[in-house]
Amino acid sequence: MLRSAVFIFLALTRCIAAQNDTNLTTSSVQEAFSNAKIVPDVLPSFQPTALLNVTFTDQATGALLSVSPGMNLTMEQTMLEPTFAVTANSSDSLAEQIFVLAIVDPDAPTPQNTSISQFRHMLAGDLHVNASSGGALVNSSAALTDFVNPTPPAGSDPHRYVILLFTQPPTFNVTASTLVNASTPRTNFNLTAFGQAVGLGSPVAGNFFFTGPSDSTGTTSGSGSAPAPTTSDTGSSSSGASAVEKLVPVGGIWTVFMGAIAISYFL
Ligand SMILES: *[C@@H]1O[C@H](CO)[C@@H](O)[C@H](O)[C@H]1NC(C)=O
Ligand SMILES: *[C@@H]1O[C@H](CO)[C@@H](O)[C@H](O)[C@H]1NC(C)=O
Ligand SMILES: *[C@@H]1O[C@H](CO)[C@@H](O)[C@H](O)[C@H]1NC(C)=O
Ligand SMILES: *[C@@H]1O[C@H](CO)[C@@H](O)[C@H](O)[C@H]1NC(C)=O
Ligand SMILES: *[C@@H]1O[C@H](CO)[C@@H](O)[C@H](O)[C@H]1NC(C)=O
Ligand SMILES: *[C@@H]1O[C@H](CO)[C@@H](O)[C@H](O)[C@H]1NC(C)=O
Ligand SMILES: *[C@@H]1O[C@H](CO)[C@@H](O)[C@H](O)[C@H]1NC(C)=O
Ligand SMILES: *[C@@H]1O[C@H](CO)[C@@H](O)[C@H](O)[C@H]1NC(C)=O
Ligand SMILES: *[C@@H]1O[C@H](CO)[C@@H](O)[C@H](O)[C@H]1NC(C)=O
Ligand SMILES: *[C@@H]1O[C@H](CO)[C@@H](O)[C@H](O)[C@H]1NC(C)=O
Ligand SMILES: *[C@@H]1O[C@H](CO)[C@@H](O)[C@H](O)[C@H]1NC(C)=O
Repeated sequence: MLRSAVFIFLALTRCIAAQNDTNLTTSSVQEAFSNAKIVPDVLPSFQPTALLNVTFTDQATGALLSVSPGMNLTMEQTMLEPTFAVTANSSDSLAEQIFVLAIVDPDAPTPQNTSISQFRHMLAGDLHVNASSGGALVNSSAALTDFVNPTPPAGSDPHRYVILLFTQPPTFNVTASTLVNASTPRTNFNLTAFGQAVGLGSPVAGNFFFTGPSDSTGTTSGSGSAPAPTTSDTGSSSSGASAVEKLVPVGGIWTVFMGAIAISYFL
């Protein structure tokens, strides 16, 4: 009985993982961004020229989960750092480029109270396409801000997690780390201001998903039979802890405190 339930659950999960939105176009992504008000909340405008494929690995099942714009994902599904791939009609144009990737949450601590928004979940430069791996993005330097998983607070509506890919400006290596480094709080980030300061320009591709606190969202029909989310709290507080440690040297007590609260409980 249990075995067959597990089997059905795995079969369903595989089904979901195997799905791909082959009809996804840059204009449907653009439309999804507008419908979710990411334009104007995060970006003044958005005209993508490529598609950004973001793939999570479900920690519980090992199943791959590709994000289609606006998808609902659970905290468990988004626990691990995803992989990224970029595709466009002309792959030549992508092959030569270096990219910057950002993940921000404009809904922190809640969509109704955005007092610590944007929360920076990841910021990384020096990404380029691995030509022998279907547009997969690989990094050649450490991230300015390592990925930290979504942990929206109990009672919050689902947050939007927005993933954006930019062409890397030539001076990025020099300028970016003076503005965002391991000491920079993740809270109250302004991607537009950062982008203006380092010359990012408009994003070439983007994607987003929703994640709410543990019991509020989910797309997998198997979530009821999924293993208990035992790793949820430890996972987020351990990644939070390392991020907080990095805040300590430069940030003031308040910043550290806010960062600690934000990372451990609110996002
Ligand atoms: C998407 O799935 C279809 C089958 O449903 C498959 O033929 C196609 O190759 C897949 N496309 C990608 C990009 O994985
Ligand atoms: C893709 O588009 C075709 C034709 O418009 C439609 O029949 C099909 O159902 C679409 N597939 C998905 C996965 O939306
Ligand atoms: C996205 O990447 C995953 C994992 O590499 C792959 O299975 C999936 O087919 C890709 N989806 C699209 C739309 O390219
Ligand atoms: C996501 O969940 C919300 C409820 O929180 C629901 O209204 C919406 O239709 C869901 N979206 C998708 C794409 O399943
Ligand atoms: C590729 O070209 C087709 C047809 O012009 C267009 O609909 C589609 O959005 C383009 N895809 C990308 C990723 O630019
Ligand atoms: C908004 O969130 C902040 C940070 O969590 C909190 O200090 C503040 O009291 C909240 N404001 C309201 C009106 O709930
Ligand atoms: C690029 O992709 C190939 C084929 O998947 C893989 O063997 C190789 O390790 C990848 N390179 C990097 C730097 O990830
Ligand atoms: C690429 O990023 C990963 C973490 O996402 C990091 O462990 C690794 O060191 C980075 N690679 C380089 C060459 O810095
Ligand atoms: C940026 O600096 C890193 C080392 O810190 C180097 O690996 C990378 O190639 C540089 N990127 C550019 C675009 O110069
Ligand atoms: C790190 O970033 C902060 C801004 O958060 C900046 O004040 C500081 O100068 C940066 N550190 C370095 C070494 O550039
Ligand atoms: C973010 O920065 C932009 C550009 O400097 C500015 O127009 C906008 O008001 C800022 N947003 C917030 C919430 O401070």
